[in-house]
Amino acid sequence: MDFFLWWRDGVIYQIYPRSFSDSNGDGLGDLVGIVSHLDYLQDLGIDAIWLSPFQPTPDKDFGYDISNYMDVDPRFGTLADFSRLVAEAHRRDIRIILDLVLNHTSDQHTWFRESRSSQDNLKRDWYIWRDHPNNWQASFGGSAWEYDPVTRQYYLHLFTKEQPDVNWRNREVRKAMLDVFRFWMELGADGFRLDVFNAYFKDPQLPDNPPKFGLRAFDRQQHIHDIDQPEMMPFLNELRSLLDSYPERYAVGETYLATLPKTVSYCGKGKLHAAFSFDFTANDLSFPWNPAWLRDQIARREEVFNGAAIWPTTVMSNHDLPRAAGRYGRGEDDAQAKLAMTLLLTLRGTPFLYYGEEIAMRDISLKRSEILDPPGRKYWPIYKGRDGCRSPMQWNDEPFAGFSNTRPWLPVHPDYAQRNVAAQQADPHSMFNFTKDLLRLRKETPALRRGSYTPLQAPRGTLAYLRQTDDQSVLVAMNFSKRQVNLPWPAGDWRVILTTSEDARGVLAPYQIQLFIKV
Ligand code: NOJ
Repeated sequence: MDFFLWWRDGVIYQIYPRSFSDSNGDGLGDLVGIVSHLDYLQDLGIDAIWLSPFQPTPDKDFGYDISNYMDVDPRFGTLADFSRLVAEAHRRDIRIILDLVLNHTSDQHTWFRESRSSQDNLKRDWYIWRDHPNNWQASFGGSAWEYDPVTRQYYLHLFTKEQPDVNWRNREVRKAMLDVFRFWMELGADGFRLDVFNAYFKDPQLPDNPPKFGLRAFDRQQHIHDIDQPEMMPFLNELRSLLDSYPERYAVGETYLATLPKTVSYCGKGKLHAAFSFDFTANDLSFPWNPAWLRDQIARREEVFNGAAIWPTTVMSNHDLPRAAGRYGRGEDDAQAKLAMTLLLTLRGTPFLYYGEEIAMRDISLKRSEILDPPGRKYWPIYKGRDGCRSPMQWNDEPFAGFSNTRPWLPVHPDYAQRNVAAQQADPHSMFNFTKDLLRLRKETPALRRGSYTPLQAPRGTLAYLRQTDDQSVLVAMNFSKRQVNLPWPAGDWRVILTTSEDARGVLAPYQIQLFIKV
């Protein structure tokens, strides 16, 4: 039986709203800008959009510090614009997923302003206040505790000090958070991406984390008391009941520092639909990118996810990572980007495609004085932050790449005159048309969406696997090397359904990608 379940069989496209399209000439992207490109997204062939946060934010972590969960930041639009976006997206059969950042609020949220106003304020217990800090470290550097001179206590923040962690053990907090989900579902949201959800609950005794080897103070401790507490499960259960009271709603969790088995444990009946396992990403440029490593990574996740009958997710790029095209490729050549896209769209799991990935956008490089991202400002030049992968979408070769008619909040990549949507739409061999072809094939081919995964023996430098349903078999073959390679051929008759060059069956030219279907 092949029915199309949007969050399992579809492809989810992540938009970082301030960088997608600026409709009102303030240099920041906005919701109306997104609406104006829905036809583009429909034509590309995606099924859902995940919007990074667009709620009011003082921008201490560029949207991941929210001061009001139930509104739209005026720079990005209004609630009416959101409703229009939902209606227009639904009209094109595109679902809308919101990013909910509920582990922490902005320090400008009225909840925190009240909480910090006095020790006996009714919202004092909505955050985590203590007389003495423990050894916990903030992910963006320094102690996770900030002293507040007004009430002479410390509050906990796992990220910047402007992002105080909410006390999820407080009943009223949990109720307020469930109201946030309800509010957006009533406005038509189809799903949610939960920011660092497995950090919601902390060990109530707040014990020191034990030490381990690592570079930064943050890495020199085992994060066992600040994440992954057992109280998460009953909450997920409550959340899932709420989601299930609306038709076809979805929640995907962003796991924070979690192991693969732990990630899987958060998904399934009465829990989340999915959680990111980040099998092919790393912040570190030395991450291996070769078939042997990929085969192992795929095998690892297949074992864990298949064993638990849980649907995996596949991610190559997002707003926190160097873009895959530049992470794995050099210069302007898109061969590696096409290999990454093939994995993204042909492995078993829901693909998450990051805006601009379809034209293999590269990261911008910034001078120290231009860095905006807090961890980049703190750790430059060891770590230059995440601005690089958040540059404006490159639509065409007009000034500011057609993103805006004024100087954008981050510079446009200098390659935009050549690398842009319009130019690639006109080039049959472009990354754009390759991505679009693959998206179309994936949609037409049940084996690519739902089929099992079987690795094939393949010569060094190549990766080959089968995706199979009861009545369909697809063979995916990729050459990661600059040599021509002969590929042993499985029995049967195979018809080519996609290829990056015209070479014969069984021979893979350098960096060639071929997909076949059994006839
Ligand atoms: C994970 C988000 O993806 C990242 O962008 C953010 O900085 C942290 N969570 C804190 O919210």
